[in-house]
Amino acid sequence: MSTRQPQMFRELARYYDSIASFKDYRAESAALERLVRRFRRSNGRDWLDVACGTGRHLEHLRKHYRVVGIDLSREMLRIARDRLPGEELRRGDMRTFRLERQFDVVSSLFSAIGHLRSESEVRTALANFARHLKPGGVVLVEPWISPDMFQPGHVHALSGRTSDGVIARVSYARRRGSRSIIEYSYLIGTKGRGVAYVREIVPGLMVAPERLVELGNAAGLRARFLRRGLPSGRGLLVGVKPGAGISR
Ligand SMILES: C[S@@+](CC[C@H](N)C(=O)[O-])C[C@H]1O[C@@H](n2cnc3c(N)ncnc32)[C@H](O)[C@@H]1O
Repeated sequence: MSTRQPQMFRELARYYDSIASFKDYRAESAALERLVRRFRRSNGRDWLDVACGTGRHLEHLRKHYRVVGIDLSREMLRIARDRLPGEELRRGDMRTFRLERQFDVVSSLFSAIGHLRSESEVRTALANFARHLKPGGVVLVEPWISPDMFQPGHVHALSGRTSDGVIARVSYARRRGSRSIIEYSYLIGTKGRGVAYVREIVPGLMVAPERLVELGNAAGLRARFLRRGLPSGRGLLVGVKPGAGISR
């Protein structure tokens, strides 16, 4: 099982936080904690964030939970380790990683599952998340944009400051079946060095919310989809593992 990772998670990883500077990770983390209080039926405070990226959610969640992070990208993990000294951050693939313990919460946020190649891989990943949950624990998965919300031809721009300059990203969206095909153009200005241009095309897997719920149920969870899950507007799959007082 291999996946070619976008450059943003490899050689451009040091710019990820600048590009994502529009996101309010503190508010998102608080919203996630409220959802956990609402849905979780287990009693502990162990939280696993899969595809944790540079650790921006974990930075807030660690105040109230014992946290572990997993990501496929060495470069993203390097930044997360600088941000979260002492925390357990491991390299792993969401489809195949194995930890010898279970958690009260398993999250995967900001559309990381959109980097998988097929619905069957999404099901494999969800089953793996369920395997790592205690009975009564909750899975929270923020998917990539749903097919009915996707607008082919959409253009978008983001920009941010870096430690030694500025970065801008302009994107153009196309669609091929259930895949979004987004073309990203980056302009990276570095003080005293000039401006570099990087272009890449990133496919994304779009899964309808009803289908995600089916895949969550097939993975052994009691699943539902919250359209207004997080501020991103992409919704949130919530799945509770049967046991600890809940009936299926
Ligand atoms: C858009 S970023 C989201 C990062 C973080 N969750 C956030 O909210 O900022 C997607 C992350 O998914 C990771 N990723 C992509 N495919 C993965 C896989 N198969 N297993 C684990 N992580 C993966 C990437 O390395 C990247 O860090």
